[in-house]
Amino acid sequence: MPAQIVEVVEPHASSPGHERRIGYRGFAMVGLLNRLYGERWKAPGTEIVFFARDGYRSSTDSARFLAGTAWLAFGRADDKPFTVDNPSQHQRDIPLGPYYLIWDNLHDPVARAEGAYGWPYQVVRIDLAMPADYAAAQPRDAEGFGQVKKYCLTCHQVAGMGGEKWRGDLRQLSRPLSDGELKTWIIEPQKMRPATTMPPLDTRLPDVERNRIADAIIRYLRAAPATDITRP
Ligand code: HEC
Repeated sequence: MPAQIVEVVEPHASSPGHERRIGYRGFAMVGLLNRLYGERWKAPGTEIVFFARDGYRSSTDSARFLAGTAWLAFGRADDKPFTVDNPSQHQRDIPLGPYYLIWDNLHDPVARAEGAYGWPYQVVRIDLAMPADYAAAQPRDAEGFGQVKKYCLTCHQVAGMGGEKWRGDLRQLSRPLSDGELKTWIIEPQKMRPATTMPPLDTRLPDVERNRIADAIIRYLRAAPATDITRP
C-alpha cells in the first residue's frame, strides 16, 4: 500500500490556545482494514481494537473509520524522531512506533473534539471485536458502560475486556474505595497519590460534565454483578 503524508494537530502536544501541527507518514486505515478483513469490519457494532506494546488497548466503533480520516502512522514527514510528549501522564519523548493511529483532525471536527482519545501509540496488533465479545461486560447500564469503555478500559479490564496496563478487574479494584474516594480518584488521582501515572478524567471537559461522567462510571462499577468477576 502506498504511504501518504498527513498533517494533524498533535493532540498529545497541544493545549487550548497552543496548537502544534505535525506531519506524519502513514497508511490509510480504510485501505488497511479492507485488506485485512474485506467487508467484515463494516458490520454494525463492530469495534476496531488497537493493542499497544505496554498493554494499553484502544477500541473505536468501526463506523468512525468509514469517513476515511484515520491513518496508521509509522514515521514523521520531517524525519525527526517518531516520539511525542504526554504531559498528562508525566512522560516525555515517548516512542510512537511501530504504529500510531492518527486522525485528520484538521478536517474531521469529531476527531478534533476528542483530543487524544482514540490515538493509541506503540500499536503492535489490530483486531476486530464484535458485540458478543462485550456481552459479559455490558450489563443493564449502557451509558455507564460506554463511559467506562472510553475512559477506563484503555488501561483496565472488566470481565476480561480492555487493556492490561494495570492488572485486575476494575470492579474488584474499585471495591475498597468509598464512592467519594473513587470519584476523587477518577477526577483527580494525583490528589490521592501524587506520583500516580493514572491520568485524570478528560480535563478539557467542564467540571459539571466530568462529575456526571464519574457518577455514571461509579454507578456502572457498583451495579455490575460480583459473581462473574475473575480474580487477578
Ligand atoms: C492511562 C491508563 C489508565 C486509565 C485510562 C485509567 N487508569 Fe486506573 N489505574 C492506572 C494505573 C497505572 C493504576 C495504578 C495506580 C497507581 O498506583 O499509581 C490505576 C489504578 C486504578 C485503581 C486502583 C486504585 C487503588 O487504590 O489502588 C482504580 C480503582 C482505578 N484505577 C480506576 C480507574 C477508573 C474508574 C478509570 C476510568 C475513569 C481509570 N482507572 C482509568 C491506569 C489507568
